[in-house]
Amino acid sequence: MIQRIATITLLMLGVLISSVTSYARDASTGVSDAALYDRLGGLMPLSVVVNDFIDAMVSDAVMNENPVIDAARKRVPAAYLKYHVTAFVCMATGGPCGYTGRGMPESHTHLNINARDWDRMLEIFVEVLASYDVPERETRELVELLGTTKDAIVTAD
Ligand code: HEM
Repeated sequence: MIQRIATITLLMLGVLISSVTSYARDASTGVSDAALYDRLGGLMPLSVVVNDFIDAMVSDAVMNENPVIDAARKRVPAAYLKYHVTAFVCMATGGPCGYTGRGMPESHTHLNINARDWDRMLEIFVEVLASYDVPERETRELVELLGTTKDAIVTAD
């Protein structure tokens, strides 16, 4: 009986280990196929990156040359933005968070964001990722992910 339980336990462990391994790495390429959220290390590092990103955005002189953005950052608490942007990125990267904020057009159309503001935002974002040594692949995927929101956010010439 004890031997049978031990065999079943070993079998279950084997299945668990092999499924975790195949989840984490593609056998042929050795490249991790885990969700971006997991490759980034989950919510703790993600929230730290968003924290620095929002701090850098709201204090950026180039960004605040747009008077509507400048007025909005004085009106909207950074903590509120950090909460919503963390949940948004967590969800969009495959994490377990639910996003309860407004849609991207509703949140940004009134800000008259143009291509220059967008490029500056991306520059800041990549600088923050680099400051935490986020690898090239994850940086590229995050930039691509932000790119999917561009048409909804950039509405001014
Ligand atoms: C140049 C680019 C961007 C600027 C200047 C900007 C600025 C802002 C500002 C000022 C607000 C507050 C608006 C208000 O309540 O009146 C806001 C809200 C928000 N932004 Fe952005 N943003 C930019 C890009 C992005 C991107 C790429 C994302 C997604 C990753 C994003 C996610 C959000 C979210 C989730 C909110 C909160 C929505 C809500 O209030 O329910 N933003 N943004």
